Amino acid sequence: MKRESFYITTAIHYANAAPHIGHAYENICADVMARFKRLDGYDVYFLTGMDEHGQKVQQKAKENKIDSQKYVDSISDTFRVMNRNLNLSNDDFIRTTENRHKRAAQLFWKKLEEKGDIYLGKYEGWYSIRDEAFYSENEVTISEDGKRIAIDSKTEVEWMVEESYFFRLSAYTDRLLKLYEVRPDMIQPASRRNEVINFVKQGLHDLSISRTSFTWGIPVLGNDRHVMYVWVDALINYLSALDYPERNAPLYNRFWPCDVHLVGKDIVRFHAIYWPAFLISAEIPLPRVIHGHGHILNNGEKMSKSLGNVISPQDLINKYGSDATRYVLMREITFGQDGNISDESAVIRINSELANTIGNLVQRTLCLIYKNCKGLIPNCNTLQKVDYDLLNTCDETLLGKLRKHSEIMQFNRAIGEIVQLAVAANAYIDEQAPWTLKKTDYYRMETVLYVLAEIIRQLGIALQPYTPVASGRILDQLGIAETQRNFSFLSRDYALKSGLPILEPEGVFPRINFA
Ligand code: MSP
Repeated sequence: MKRESFYITTAIHYANAAPHIGHAYENICADVMARFKRLDGYDVYFLTGMDEHGQKVQQKAKENKIDSQKYVDSISDTFRVMNRNLNLSNDDFIRTTENRHKRAAQLFWKKLEEKGDIYLGKYEGWYSIRDEAFYSENEVTISEDGKRIAIDSKTEVEWMVEESYFFRLSAYTDRLLKLYEVRPDMIQPASRRNEVINFVKQGLHDLSISRTSFTWGIPVLGNDRHVMYVWVDALINYLSALDYPERNAPLYNRFWPCDVHLVGKDIVRFHAIYWPAFLISAEIPLPRVIHGHGHILNNGEKMSKSLGNVISPQDLINKYGSDATRYVLMREITFGQDGNISDESAVIRINSELANTIGNLVQRTLCLIYKNCKGLIPNCNTLQKVDYDLLNTCDETLLGKLRKHSEIMQFNRAIGEIVQLAVAANAYIDEQAPWTLKKTDYYRMETVLYVLAEIIRQLGIALQPYTPVASGRILDQLGIAETQRNFSFLSRDYALKSGLPILEPEGVFPRINFA
């Protein structure tokens, strides 16, 4: 049977600084979703990568006295290392300086040109190099120290006049508004959708899409004094990674249109306005959903180099390991909202949920089985109501809840369901006290331990998107074959078989001692 496809992308990250926790957060969210969908039987393609052109990057390279290409090579490497250390399962890592991308971008541009949507004009306006964006008069102000800055991003702007190609975005205002109406789920969450609609309702201006003031970009075919505006170049990565515009490109045919563009709230506008307009012009089907996530703050403050409060993902990985780092970020932050990360909250989560609740349950149960049942999955004798009550919260019931939360990327709630199950199982083990039953009622002890082992099998399967390494070890210890770990095995039909051996138990979620 042909599996349904699922294509998810992150934003491509600017190659102008080392990765910070915000980039890690976005990539982990996408990875969790990709893993979830793979486990749920989808044919998944997960793309992340680097946005390597633009004035900002060229300037940074200059400051560092290094050639622009060498500069982006080294920054891209730091992102690759972060992704590897976070245990990401991305299928590709696109870089906009790659030839496959440059070619695709130039041909995409040609399509818009042939459509009559691109013309040559002159651009004047307030330009922020940091944001790579022009601002209108009412979007700028004077800062306390007398500089002219963009109101939204607080970055410095300067007046620029240059010849520029324009995209006829103004002609798309009504079509976009109609699109948001007929596809109410396209921009999520609803607060972001409303922002976009209000913005478009004010009317759209044509968009300046080329630059002549610097050279670090993709040359416009036929007029190479111009390089493409970095946002046009960057958005096309979602297509070039699928080998667009090759004729009959297998990846494009299999995965386009994209299912989820996952981006931060600051760049929803580019994905929900420009990108659909370009795609309509190029006659390419539109993505299904643009999900705007919130920002990670450090004790309530925006992170920035100047404040010196940037949290490095590698620091967290060094302290807690990749599984716990992933877990904390997915658990602490409510998707769509801004959220805080601190060492204190991380340690509390790791110790209370991973170590004390889930880790302890697994360790206690498997040790009891190992010692008292000859290391074999015990018999399931007569089940009682309490056993059914617990078992009935698993299987399709659990899967249904996980699917519901994951569809809208509410991973903290999905994890909450799993923790809830572990809490219930801990209450059950305390109440049933199998260590006492050992002496009083061996048959009952077997059944209780069987029920617990089955709950742990389900917990291990369900936790895989969040803590892939530790979940794998839980399932290894239970002797579950690699081929029996996807979500179709969250079913009574595949409940543990009595008599099969387990491995000697060892803890999978260590406690963190806070120095
Ligand atoms: N290069 C553009 C995106 C082009 S996509 C075709 C860009 N790059 S970025 O490096 O500045 O940001 C990449 C992503 O990281 C964005 O989705 C952005 O919202 C996200 N984050 C940046 N800071 C963040 C936090 N503090 N917290 C969470 N995400 C953050 O924009």
